[in-house]
Amino acid sequence: MRAARCTTYGPPGDLTVAHLDDPEPGPGEVLVRVHAAAVNFPDVLIVANRYQVPAPLPFTPGSEFAGTVAALGPGVTGPPVGTPVAGAVLTGAFAEQVVVPAASLRGIPEGLDMVHAAAFHVTYATAYHSLVTVAGGTEGEWAVVLGAAGGVGTAAVDIGTRLGLRVIAAASSEERLTVARKLGAAGGVDYVREDLKARIRELSGEGAHLAIDPVGGRYAEAALRGLRRGGRFVTVGYADGEIPRIPLNLVLLKDLVVRGFEIRTVRQYAPDAVAEADRTLARLVREGMRPLVSRVHPLDDVAAALTDVAERRTTGKVVLDLERG
Ligand SMILES: NC(=O)c1ccc[n+]([C@@H]2O[C@H](COP(=O)([O-])OP(=O)(O)OC[C@H]3O[C@@H](n4cnc5c(N)ncnc54)[C@H](OP(=O)(O)O)[C@@H]3O)[C@@H](O)[C@H]2O)c1
Repeated sequence: MRAARCTTYGPPGDLTVAHLDDPEPGPGEVLVRVHAAAVNFPDVLIVANRYQVPAPLPFTPGSEFAGTVAALGPGVTGPPVGTPVAGAVLTGAFAEQVVVPAASLRGIPEGLDMVHAAAFHVTYATAYHSLVTVAGGTEGEWAVVLGAAGGVGTAAVDIGTRLGLRVIAAASSEERLTVARKLGAAGGVDYVREDLKARIRELSGEGAHLAIDPVGGRYAEAALRGLRRGGRFVTVGYADGEIPRIPLNLVLLKDLVVRGFEIRTVRQYAPDAVAEADRTLARLVREGMRPLVSRVHPLDDVAAALTDVAERRTTGKVVLDLERG
């Protein structure tokens, strides 16, 4: 099979594509023929060896896929060969085939094709849990979304709007804010050129009820300062590269709540919340919700596709189409 390869840690531009032996599923595992694989920001971090979980060299990057079941390992009774499935792994998805634990597979929400199915779960589940499970966002509340034109950001704007929240999108250019406005954002802040805290207060009156932060850096504190009394701040990621340090007196003065969310472990720690999120997301997909896929590349473009994500040049999701070679 053909697969992307990382042979030295570093920038994603060093990735190559190679021919490897077809993998075989072991006990409890399933072989999936990958139709499409989404690029997620953590893929860039894993290739650079800057992710919280290291991947030993050499390896095939790629953490999210959609495809069909190709073979079952010993002891595995289903899903039957040919079933459409999606899943998330630490590495291995940027390949024509991937072996995963049978229990980790999920069905594809009705209405999503392979490209959109590959781009759906990680960002949409992260956005849903951040907004609802963790921040407890409800209809009518003002929600700030940082990095609003990115993968997690577009998903948060989309879901938040559909659930009746009033979303303030924050991104690095007017062009990127337009992407968020098209998804329903009620207001936008160019956080490179404008004062984020002041604009949040201007748009929301007393300050926002909650903020979702997949970016970090200096934007985190400004967004926290833009919250009203009792506001909720959810730290989700650090695309900026800098993990922010927040003065705790800001939390004390306005009785704020600061929490985190992590998709890798949520199934283990909050199975009921996961079931609820899956039901709501499936309903929203039936009502027409789709991830914003801005670019689809063949596997041969893997280095360029990840470089674009690393260098902040993409909006929504970038997907590799394994059917295109
Ligand atoms: N906690 C979880 O479970 C979870 C799940 C998925 C992702 N994440 C994390 O969330 C973050 C965002 O992921 P994503 O998939 O949404 O990524 P993405 O699609 O690349 O979006 C990240 C956004 O961050 C902004 N940004 C600001 N400074 C940046 C910089 N120096 N380099 C790159 N982007 C920068 C960019 O928007 P502007 O140019 O408009 O500022 C970009 O749109 C990542 O850190 C990822 O690891 C966490």
